Amino acid sequence: MALSPQWLDELRSRTTLSSLIGRTVKVQKAGREFKACCPFHNEKTPSFTINDEKGFYHCFGCGAHGDAIRWMTDQRGLSFMDAVKDLAAEAQLVVPAPDPRTAQRQETRATLHDVMAAAQDWFVTQFNGIEGAHAREYLKNRGISETTVRAFGFGYAPDSRGHLKDALSDHGVDQLVEAGLLIKVDDREPYDRFRGRLMIPIRDPRGRVIAFGGRLLSEGEPKYLNSPDTPLFDKGRTLYNLDKASPAARQTARILVVEGYMDAIALAQAGFQDVVAPLGTALTEHQIERLWKMVEAPILCFDGDNAGQKAAMRAALRALPILRPSYSLNFIALPKGQDPDDLLRSAGPQAFKALIDQPQTLADKIWQVELNAAPLNTPESKAGLKKRLSDHVRDIADQDIAQHYRQEFQERYENVFFSRHDNQARQKQFPRPKSTFKSQYVSLTPMDDTKSVLVDGYSMRIAKAILGGLIRHPSQISKHFEELTMLQFPDSQMQGLLSELIRTAMRKEMLDMQGLLTILEKTDCYNVAKGLLRADALNFTFNRRLPELAPSDFVERAHHDLAEAIKVITARPGLEAALAEATRRVQENLDEESYAEQQRLRKAKQEFHERLVELTQIDDVV
Ligand code: UTP
Ligand code: MN
Repeated sequence: MALSPQWLDELRSRTTLSSLIGRTVKVQKAGREFKACCPFHNEKTPSFTINDEKGFYHCFGCGAHGDAIRWMTDQRGLSFMDAVKDLAAEAQLVVPAPDPRTAQRQETRATLHDVMAAAQDWFVTQFNGIEGAHAREYLKNRGISETTVRAFGFGYAPDSRGHLKDALSDHGVDQLVEAGLLIKVDDREPYDRFRGRLMIPIRDPRGRVIAFGGRLLSEGEPKYLNSPDTPLFDKGRTLYNLDKASPAARQTARILVVEGYMDAIALAQAGFQDVVAPLGTALTEHQIERLWKMVEAPILCFDGDNAGQKAAMRAALRALPILRPSYSLNFIALPKGQDPDDLLRSAGPQAFKALIDQPQTLADKIWQVELNAAPLNTPESKAGLKKRLSDHVRDIADQDIAQHYRQEFQERYENVFFSRHDNQARQKQFPRPKSTFKSQYVSLTPMDDTKSVLVDGYSMRIAKAILGGLIRHPSQISKHFEELTMLQFPDSQMQGLLSELIRTAMRKEMLDMQGLLTILEKTDCYNVAKGLLRADALNFTFNRRLPELAPSDFVERAHHDLAEAIKVITARPGLEAALAEATRRVQENLDEESYAEQQRLRKAKQEFHERLVELTQIDDVV
């Protein structure tokens, strides 16, 4: 029987050569490759090199060379068929039965590739024709350049049930149905699947079109319609843009994973070509393995909203059982309500770059999600957190990795719930009357989407001033927990500092600036924190250096202003949204009531603004 080259490719791509060889000889990571002492000849220094990406081993000493199958035949001494069967069993791949259908299937795939190529050409022609005007306009409005349009092969499917069917009739209706281009229901006449949609071709790693995503040009459901699974297309095994991202990733040693087609395209246009997207489903194990063939820690860039963060956590949990030494996932959370495409437009490529330069690790991600999953105000709920964490650790199959996770989570858990040594030392040194002890544990309310506040250009200066103020007046952090956790900085350094402040205040009941700085010194946030203390543009009362023996009204005033500033910044977006909505209503339907409401909101906004101005007017208190 003949196994198809495609099938053998699949078998090779599902086999991690270094792991396979690592079972027999000791392999060591060396850059992007692995090295070992050659099992085919006697040597003391390793000249046997394994490249997982290419799926080949090569010995620079004796010239031994081959792939996974060759390894099994030459090193293990199996027959070709046995080697294949062993590897296939390992990779959970079914060896095709030796029947004429195999040959036929291969034939079918070849034909389907032709069909898809023809469809792609046709969609592009429609896109460039009269009917495609809307589609071209749509992309132009989204800021997609003509170069990008060509590079990504955008097309257009006219709004008709039989246009494609007629145009590609040479390929035969059955093929068109099998390729997923026509829909056939029961015995009724097949009709075009994609109608009135912007067409985005999905390619395999070799650059051949295997499926399409079709986007509506206006509001409607479903926004995207995708090809069904076909002999060419398996959603859970495909990554959008892999053909372009893979070579790019080799240059950058980085791979970004985003949620949407348009995110991948917008990022590529902005210079981040090492980007792929799953196809509207959760990341599968297969996709994670595929990413690991390119880099050790792909960066998942999912939306900051609930759905996006759920998807990120789902990917995190799926990775646990298949983690291998050195291989992991990294995460960034985009500001709430923004996908990468939005962020590029609102804040520019450098904002995105700042985020991906400081991603969260897998351990961080799981810790953060579980810490925020529920209030932690009872002994039971605290133990619940511990249990959830250890359940996750139990999912990790690699015992070395599991061990490290266990330790890491244990340390973090103790840091949050039990006083640390330095804290105890301080308490001994400065015994405080019992009555001033507040509960050390602050309940963390689960994150609420609707309440998050994105720090934008307008509020950035105040937000920074607030951070600086909190460093000067750490006692105030815990008073504003709820509002502070709503803040979302586009800049991961600021976000990191904010989280650190909250975390520290959660652990310590009493803290002064020096104490806080000592703690921050051990984190990445120290320089940012110092910078904020220096910045002279921040001229709120709470940013001013405290005199040696600060009069209490000076301190009170600073605390009061800090509270005001926090209120202004966290309430403003809600107010603005309400005002925009009220304005829309007034325009639509001018009546007394909606007009009065709009005026009221307008006035409130004005007052906010004035309050802010007031806060920055320093009258000398001292
Ligand atoms: P998004 O709605 O985030 O897509 O869905 P997007 O790329 O940002 O779209 P734009 O910017 O509104 O054009 C993420 C992905 O989920 C899948 C698609 O793969 C999409 O890219 N999806 C979404 C569907 O398959 N069907 C849908 O109706 C919506
Ligand atoms: Mn989008």
